Amino acid sequence: MKYVDFKISENVGSIVITREKALNALNSEVLQELNSTIDLIEEKISEISILTVRGAGEKAFVAGADIAEMVQLTPIKAREFLTFGQRVLDRIEQLPIPVIAIVNGYALGGGLELALSCDIRIATENAVLGLPEVSLGLIPSFGGTQRLTRAVGPSVAKSMILLGKKIGANRALELGLVSDVCGFAELDVRLGKIISTLKKMAPVALHAAKDAIYAANNMDVISGQELEVNYASMCFSTNDLREGMNAFLEKRKANFNGM
Ligand code: CAA
Repeated sequence: MKYVDFKISENVGSIVITREKALNALNSEVLQELNSTIDLIEEKISEISILTVRGAGEKAFVAGADIAEMVQLTPIKAREFLTFGQRVLDRIEQLPIPVIAIVNGYALGGGLELALSCDIRIATENAVLGLPEVSLGLIPSFGGTQRLTRAVGPSVAKSMILLGKKIGANRALELGLVSDVCGFAELDVRLGKIISTLKKMAPVALHAAKDAIYAANNMDVISGQELEVNYASMCFSTNDLREGMNAFLEKRKANFNGM
């Protein structure tokens, strides 16, 4: 692949968007490659327990959808491009494993939207997050009007979308938009800590929790609670639940096997 690098190491899948000259902007080719990478991840899902997504270099995670490509689009072609982008990000959001966005610099427009489709976001101190589409005559259209509003509420979402307000990493931390901020050099250590914490959790429970949280944004409360209790009951059919509870009672560390 030209713009997406994907590797698996010690059960962690890593996606790197490698279009550094254009600050990793998402053109059709990058989106197609991301989509094919998700196909591959789904095929190899038994080998992958956590996925990370980052942009190449120290300057940008992703500076948005590709403006040079979009400026030429007709409304019909734009609809195809944007719907495809939404679909790719939806697929990332719905993967059965935790996905961590490493926001290493600018996460603007489609870049912030990509980060919002991930479960956990950590940012470097130089990160700048925003949805500046209105300044281009557009609105966020890879799911940003929906996911940012759900993540930070309509008031902050409106200040970021209507006023095009970009925020730094520390403000993003205050808003809960990212869970951790560090210097670029510390990134691997911080990431390693999050990965090792996630590896201590029961994989089936992680998947169930992720789906139930997804339902909180996409279902009414009664249906969401029904789904929650269904997933929780299903956990009682797993070896990992017995192992986790017995380990607590026996004052030892749990050893989960994902079943
Ligand atoms: N699309 C295409 N190319 C982009 C790009 C984008 N979103 N962002 C940056 N680039 C390119 C620049 O055109 C430039 O290319 P050249 O070297 O060939 O001129 C290169 O990346 C480096 O960028 P800059 O010279 O602009 O770097 P800078 O340090 O001066 O500024 C920046 C960095 C503030 C991130 C600035 O590049 C910028 O504002 N980028 C656009 C951000 C944006 O508006 N994103 C939203 C896009 S619309 C969208 O995403 C729609 C949607 O919801 C799906």
